Amino acid sequence: MRVATVRAMINWARAMTRDDHEPRPQLLGIRNGAGEVLGSGFFNEVRALRDDLVIKVAKPFGPFAQPLSWLIRARREHELIAPYLNTPSTYYLRVHDSDGRPVSVILQRRLEGEVFSQLSEERITAAGMRSELERLQSGLQLCVRELGWLADVIGGPPRWGVHDLRYSNNLLVDREGKIWLIDPGAFFFWFATSNPLGRFYTWLLLRSARRLVRKARIRERRRR
Ligand SMILES: Nc1ncnc2c1ncn2[C@@H]1O[C@H](COP(=O)(O)OP(=O)(O)O)[C@@H](O)[C@H]1O
Ligand SMILES: [Mg+2]
Repeated sequence: MRVATVRAMINWARAMTRDDHEPRPQLLGIRNGAGEVLGSGFFNEVRALRDDLVIKVAKPFGPFAQPLSWLIRARREHELIAPYLNTPSTYYLRVHDSDGRPVSVILQRRLEGEVFSQLSEERITAAGMRSELERLQSGLQLCVRELGWLADVIGGPPRWGVHDLRYSNNLLVDREGKIWLIDPGAFFFWFATSNPLGRFYTWLLLRSARRLVRKARIRERRRR
């Protein structure tokens, strides 16, 4: 994205509901390229804006900006998933870049830690992780049962072929060993139990959560 400054247009958390949508322009003064790149997924480029804050700038799809409806949906899904899993404070914004093009931006508390895919199985199932993994597993199970869908606990493409939470880019373990879901949207049908493929995929993911818990329990028993 070629942007010099980013003009905030609307959508502080309050304004993200459809019926409360008055634009309130103000200058955020966020400069393109500022901050160290922490990650780059299919949807966002993620940078450290400050020590305690990351900014996720939505990547355009060729000539098209990410639709506003996607941002609204992501915010809604975050709200729904929050009772089941730990999620960092997040603000969803729709801004205009210096050329006047709309851009979706997410501001989120920065977490110190590593995503599951960067950790060895030994470290994920290390001492002290059992209870956190159990909490994660039961949260995921409840979420599927009560909502009928699962958040993207794996990390979207190009990792859709991977069906094991072990390789997640969206689950992060912080320095205290707490597990967080940093990318709580669930855009696609394969995380929904309303279709056969989604039922199968969520089942695979839940199964991998159970497997991680089992491994952590076995390792804990062995340590005793
Ligand atoms: N709050 C955060 N704190 C620290 N690192 C983060 C945070 N959010 C994202 N990251 C890093 O950026 C990567 C991509 O972020 P993510 O929100 O999953 O973007 P995308 O929607 O493109 O998948 C993550 O895998 C992680 O390494
Ligand atoms: Mg992600």
